[in-house]
Amino acid sequence: MPLDIEHAMTPHGDRAPDCTMVIFGGGGDLTKRLLAPALYNLARTGLLPARFALIGVDKLDMDDAGFRAHLDKAIRDFASDKHYAQTLDENALSALLERVHFLSGDFGEDDTYHRLDRMIVGISKDRHQSDHVLFYMAVASRFFGLIVDHLGKSGLAREAPGQWRRVVVEKPFGNDLQSAKALNTQLRQTLMESQIYRMDHFLGKETVQNIMMMRFANGIFEPLWNRDHIDHIQITVAETVGVERRAGFYEATGAMRDMIPNHLFQLLALTAMEPPSSFSADAVRSEKTKALLSVHTVDPHRDVVRGQYVAGQRDGTALKGYRQEDGVAPDSLTETYLSMRLMLDNWRWAGVPFYLRTGKAMSTRRSEILVQFKRPPLSLFRNTATENLMPNALLIKLQPEEGAALSFGAKIPGPAIRIGQVHMDFHYKDYFQNAPATGYETLIYDCMIGDATLFQRSDSVMAGWSIVQPLLDHWAQGAVVPMAHYAAGSEGPKESEEMLQERGHHWKPLD
Ligand code: BG6
Repeated sequence: MPLDIEHAMTPHGDRAPDCTMVIFGGGGDLTKRLLAPALYNLARTGLLPARFALIGVDKLDMDDAGFRAHLDKAIRDFASDKHYAQTLDENALSALLERVHFLSGDFGEDDTYHRLDRMIVGISKDRHQSDHVLFYMAVASRFFGLIVDHLGKSGLAREAPGQWRRVVVEKPFGNDLQSAKALNTQLRQTLMESQIYRMDHFLGKETVQNIMMMRFANGIFEPLWNRDHIDHIQITVAETVGVERRAGFYEATGAMRDMIPNHLFQLLALTAMEPPSSFSADAVRSEKTKALLSVHTVDPHRDVVRGQYVAGQRDGTALKGYRQEDGVAPDSLTETYLSMRLMLDNWRWAGVPFYLRTGKAMSTRRSEILVQFKRPPLSLFRNTATENLMPNALLIKLQPEEGAALSFGAKIPGPAIRIGQVHMDFHYKDYFQNAPATGYETLIYDCMIGDATLFQRSDSVMAGWSIVQPLLDHWAQGAVVPMAHYAAGSEGPKESEEMLQERGHHWKPLD
């Protein structure tokens, strides 16, 4: 069914203001896989600034032409990928590439920033464009503080009337609460909070943004969205990929640090937050932070399951165990699976468990939120005990399937009174023919227009780390923490299912 345009909301739809975007790590993987395709998509949809320049900075022996060729290939690969298949818009691509420059330099040397300053001034003059600059940290996290210090020292981060300077900081924002606070203090020595855009790419996903729309643009969900009607909530981010070539990063990080305080807590906050007083960045972010601050202390033994995958198989193909992966220690104690039971100490959610799970090398790639409603108070149907009535559930499907499904009981046709479970299913693709996107389009565009709603404020980042810090401390003290094992290609460890069974709950099957 086509979208009812009359009732479709108008997107921002205007070109972003003229600016220069500087990508530190221009030669890196993130630029190639996501930033360049996202900029191309913005060019294609007419949202890129009329006067725009892109400067890649990296310690590589490359010039403007080399960088253009590099991005040209990255964008062509993106457009021809089977998931993104679309006709390449040659005009948009060449318009973007004309605006591309490269600066070869070391992030730790003053000279790099002096040359960058001269380059920005030169481009601004040539293009008669205003001097707004967006600095994007597409680099390893150890460089974040160093680069921002240099931006401060060289004067590049200084704002003036009619001239903004913004800095996008990628994940991970710290490795624990203490390092996150230290990084924040370091950034704040140079930048105001309003200049910092802390990225969590999950917030760029349409379906994640849609959680707020579902809840607050409809009248039917919100009256039920509380402890009186909801039994429990499950948040799942299951991945089929293993550790791949990232062992160096993953061994020191693990599923907890990699996914929980950021991606899963963002989903938790959007699901649990109170309605904001407006959709301004600060109103939304304050409510999300409040939701995280209300999470009750987590018991490391009863409320958490850490798991690691062992050898298994998917669709008949043998899969290695984590400890056999390249670059992983044969006695590694890094978790590749984590599930938690969280309780929120507030009026709306008291007594409602929120179960979170995420894992690598699982049976299916699936991110979803299951809202399980309470059973009806009594059964009016002969021979049907209330226990046999399936509770209603709302499933918000984030990826790879995008949509939502509501399940409820219906009469099975026939003379006998029998009840079956049926689903009302909404698929995004049936209504919206959006062109393929990386999720970074919205986020980059929002930085350019100065809308920080989809970026993390520092209090929210700290609230996330504060929840998990006692667990990290507990593990670091060498406390005996059992490691649950699960076969690669399976739905996760049985200990995780047992944690839910304690309260009569079950994980929704992944397949
Ligand atoms: C990243 C994690 O932040 O998110 C990865 O470091 C993870 O380990 C990825 O695979 C998941 O993101 P997406 O968009 O692929 O679901």
